[in-house]
Amino acid sequence: MINLDNYSSIFIANWKLNGNYSFLKEYYEKLKVNSNNCTIICSSSIYLQSLKGNNKNLFCGAQDVSLFKEGAYTGELSASMLRDNNIDFCLVGHSERRQYFAETNNNVKTKSLNLIEENIIPVICIGETLEQKENNLTEEILFTQIKESIPNSATHQNALIAYEPVWAIGTGLTPTLDEINQVHELIKNFDQKFINYKVLYGGSVKSSNSKEITELTHVDGCLIGGASLKVDEFNTIIS
Ligand code: PGA
Repeated sequence: MINLDNYSSIFIANWKLNGNYSFLKEYYEKLKVNSNNCTIICSSSIYLQSLKGNNKNLFCGAQDVSLFKEGAYTGELSASMLRDNNIDFCLVGHSERRQYFAETNNNVKTKSLNLIEENIIPVICIGETLEQKENNLTEEILFTQIKESIPNSATHQNALIAYEPVWAIGTGLTPTLDEINQVHELIKNFDQKFINYKVLYGGSVKSSNSKEITELTHVDGCLIGGASLKVDEFNTIIS
């Protein structure tokens, strides 16, 4: 089992629906992982077998998993299939999945449970929309997402939380540093059980802001979309 406490920071590249074999080849040729940190690359399913890991500080991640364990579910990919392909992490409940694929908190919980059973670390994504933020609902929304999306079997050793304000994803906008730190503290204090969880920040992280975000007391790493597609930029972030 991967010991998440061994790393000072965790960085996850979420390539989303991008990449191909030549992109992958060049990426891994240029990628420079930092030995104190944990770096995880999450590709589209079809490229999962081509991802590279070293079981030390570089790991392979999926972007989604089926709700179902096996059976007549055409087109799906189960947690045990991910395990069979040496996938150690999987994003769950990313806001794009919640928004475009109608994924509910309950779905996120089932998927996380299935992953934990297969010894895969779910990266459980939560975050408020701009409208919710403007109506001062951030706290309420996050608490509901946490309560309903995180299974009882999750612990700080087998699951990660990613706080991604929906309005910050792919927009170039970010909360202030104080806001990020406060929300992360809030998440960790929601219940005693979350105190030791690693909580990553995601939403418009780039090389110019990653250092100050990662240095915040309650931030344990970052989930990076757009900027993770440029390997030089990603190298700067993870260094
Ligand atoms: P972004 O995406 O870094 O492009 O804002 C983050 C994410 O969607 O995980």
